Amino acid sequence: MSTKQRSSFTGKLGFVLAAAGSAVGLGNIWRFPYLAAEYGGGIFLLVYLVLAVTFGFSLMIAEIAIGRKTGLSAIGAYEKLSKKFTWLGWLSSIVPIIILPYYCVVGGWVIKYFSAYVTGAGGVVADKDYFGGFIGQTFEPVVWFAVFLGLTALVVFLGVEKGIEKVSKIMMPLLVIIAVYGLTLPGAMDGVKYYLLPDFSSFSMTTVFAAMGQLFYSMSLAMGIMITYGSYMKKDVDLESSVRHIEIFDTGIAFIAGLIVIPAVYSTAVATGNPAEEYLTKGAGLMFTTIPQIFSVMPGGNVIGMLFFLLVIFAALTSSISLMEAVVSIIHDKFKLSRHISCVITIVISVVLGVLSSLGFGILDGIKIFGKNMFDFFDFASNSVLMPIAALFTCILVGYVIKPKTVIEEVEISSKFKGKKLFIVGIKYIAPVFIVAILVFSILEGTGVINI
Ligand code: TRP
Repeated sequence: MSTKQRSSFTGKLGFVLAAAGSAVGLGNIWRFPYLAAEYGGGIFLLVYLVLAVTFGFSLMIAEIAIGRKTGLSAIGAYEKLSKKFTWLGWLSSIVPIIILPYYCVVGGWVIKYFSAYVTGAGGVVADKDYFGGFIGQTFEPVVWFAVFLGLTALVVFLGVEKGIEKVSKIMMPLLVIIAVYGLTLPGAMDGVKYYLLPDFSSFSMTTVFAAMGQLFYSMSLAMGIMITYGSYMKKDVDLESSVRHIEIFDTGIAFIAGLIVIPAVYSTAVATGNPAEEYLTKGAGLMFTTIPQIFSVMPGGNVIGMLFFLLVIFAALTSSISLMEAVVSIIHDKFKLSRHISCVITIVISVVLGVLSSLGFGILDGIKIFGKNMFDFFDFASNSVLMPIAALFTCILVGYVIKPKTVIEEVEISSKFKGKKLFIVGIKYIAPVFIVAILVFSILEGTGVINI
């Protein structure tokens, strides 16, 4: 397929908004804050930012340039660049298949909370023990998961993605309002300190490791997605500045979400008389246990709570749609099946893996893989194992096989490449060395060989 035959995004704005719509999602609002809370606050934020401007920048430039140069999505693109790397396209394609199901599980939780605010039950979900009880149930979370998956499929089916993206962007300022209100609550300033002032004594390899996984996840890197987006990018659109804009957008939303959730941890601690540490390590449940606390004391909290969870639903939907579309086209391309059948297969896989993830918090919590329940295992396998491996081989391909100049030439078609040196050093040395070090750590730790 030549680039001419592909429909393209109109201009830079169209490209940036579409790529950011896919990148900004639960990763920013739900995942980033709980990781930052757990891995030392300010130090996590600092490590994340450093990785974003070096690592994330180099990798995103490489992926989008590969897509634009070849005009193909991941599988075809890697094959075209080097026959030896065809498998890399497949490897990165597995990632969205693993992410989509558990993403929809979280999406289901969000719809549940939204519906609680709609029916005026905001006070019920604000109970600190509510969330743990809810996800441990067999039936209800699975139903909400199915609702979210169904909504995603419906949007893909009806092709109304554009409308959803617009709504979600219009709603983003709501986050700032909630952050500002949250900061006025007693104890919140201790949270701000924890979040913004790096404490170097809590630095560890796991901090770097968690930050890197989050970077891949949040910016939808190392899974072929940005290659596909790049394949739709016009040759005259400034590639480098598009990447900077996507990064700023994505990181900005994550930063604000952290500024809501982490101070909320401290004000919740003050309100309940429990130590903040008890909440910081709540993991996947953090957003769901602490944010409702803000709404429970905020004037008009029920309405704001409803709007907040609606915003998260929209942000999650734009990402899950893009994930589902990616999975459908992989199945469609690989097995030469019709889109319709590929869609059905995608839904079946998602139902099976999603139900397993959801039940991993309840009746199946006895089943542990490397000490993790099913949900955490899928998260770990994609973010901590497959994505770093895919990223590493992308660096090897670009740094040593097709050489950085292939990417540089593509970037320079549309503009001067200001970060060229950073890109070369990033893709050849910084990124691969980091990934190898961290991959080894992660696997040893994930499998319980070492404990840090
Ligand atoms: N980046 C998305 C988020 O922050 C999640 C995600 C990961 C994603 N991989 C993706 C979205 C692929 C779309 C396509 O929530």
